[in-house]
Amino acid sequence: MANVTLHDKHFEPYVDEADVAKAIDTLAAKVAKDYSDKTPLFIGVLNGSYFFASELLKRLVIQCEISFVKVASYHGTVSSGTVSQLIGLNERIAGRHVVVLEDIVDTGNTIVHIMAALNEKQPATVAIAALLLKPEAYKKDIPINYVALEIPNVFVVGSGLDHDGLGRNLPGIFRLAQS
Ligand code: XMP
Ligand code: MG
Repeated sequence: MANVTLHDKHFEPYVDEADVAKAIDTLAAKVAKDYSDKTPLFIGVLNGSYFFASELLKRLVIQCEISFVKVASYHGTVSSGTVSQLIGLNERIAGRHVVVLEDIVDTGNTIVHIMAALNEKQPATVAIAALLLKPEAYKKDIPINYVALEIPNVFVVGSGLDHDGLGRNLPGIFRLAQS
């Protein structure tokens, strides 16, 4: 893999496509085992999760459903801080076994908002599956139940992740170049 330039920034190869695939194989096997008798509802968080959702689901031989949401954040009053809304969630959530699919969990702020919005709808269970986790950045209490790859605190693109819109289509994972 060669270096790539996206807008003003240079990125270097970090995890190749085959190793990403292997990590998703392992994660998929765990999910399949845990949900074989549950018909889970997977909820992919757009845009970044499209790649992970597709790669994970094609490996699952269990019965399941998939839907996608967008997270819209806006600033409410000073006391309520940032408010997030899930756009596009039309499925009935009550009583379902839900698995949220994220491209990356960094500080965890996004996942906290998503979990709050989902829990209001009273699912039977909610788990989180992430293609990437930055353990050094993640300081929340919510467990990230399934993680394909843990990475250090570096900015990455590829496999669904972007720098200002570009790079989602790159195979494998690229990191911001050191130079
Ligand atoms: P938090 O901090 O809320 O971040 O867990 C989650 C969202 O931030 C974006 N993000 C990244 N996007 N490369 C990216 O392309 C990264 O290294 C990165 N770290 C965080 C991403 O949108 C994610 O959903
Ligand atoms: Mg994202």
